[in-house]
Amino acid sequence: MNLRGLEIEVFEGVYPPSEDTFLLMDAVSGERGARGLELCSGTGAVGLSIASHVEEMVAVDLNPVAAMNTLLNYRVNGRWVSVVVGDLFSPIHGKFDLIMINPPYLPDGEGDPADPTWSGGASGRSIIDRFISEVGDFLSPGGRAYMLQSSINGIEKSLERACSEGLEAQIVERRDFDFESLVVIRMGLERHSSSGVWKS
Ligand SMILES: C[S@@+](CC[C@H](N)C(=O)[O-])C[C@H]1O[C@@H](n2cnc3c(N)ncnc32)[C@H](O)[C@@H]1O
Repeated sequence: MNLRGLEIEVFEGVYPPSEDTFLLMDAVSGERGARGLELCSGTGAVGLSIASHVEEMVAVDLNPVAAMNTLLNYRVNGRWVSVVVGDLFSPIHGKFDLIMINPPYLPDGEGDPADPTWSGGASGRSIIDRFISEVGDFLSPGGRAYMLQSSINGIEKSLERACSEGLEAQIVERRDFDFESLVVIRMGLERHSSSGVWKS
């Protein structure tokens, strides 16, 4: 598919770019930085959309097919990326100016097999809560993290959790649908975000 000027292939079983992907792309569109990290990269479309403004991009996905899909899409679009198969931040070292995640966030239905492409555990929050707890360790001073979140599993909970982890957090994008609202929460280390580092 052609997505905002990018050629994006979607391998079988990999999450196709959808409304949540597009909202996260909107949120990061004006971003710049030396080091960027996309977790849960899927096709890699989000990170790829700003890769021309970032010196070094790293992408992580638990699914090896998705990791290959990310790598291929960067190659097809003439961009460089380091792709790692792994669980969230576990394969990652160092600090990043930009971190992006569209996590699996749907609650598992009773009796449904849990598909990691979309399943966020029983409450839908398992990846979200881990991300918020760990992201501060990987942000450079002044760095920004962008997390896609749905109203179905508690936007306020995420804002409160970020606050309790010592992060400044605010909603920077929102789109309302019949059955849910999607938002993007931007987070940063408190001492930097409160001193005017935010881009808007
Ligand atoms: C909702 S899709 C988002 C894909 C893509 N970023 C996008 O916005 O279109 C979630 C992705 O997270 C990956 N994933 C699930 N659990 C993960 C984990 N623990 N660590 C890393 N990636 C994970 C899935 O394989 C899937 O590709």
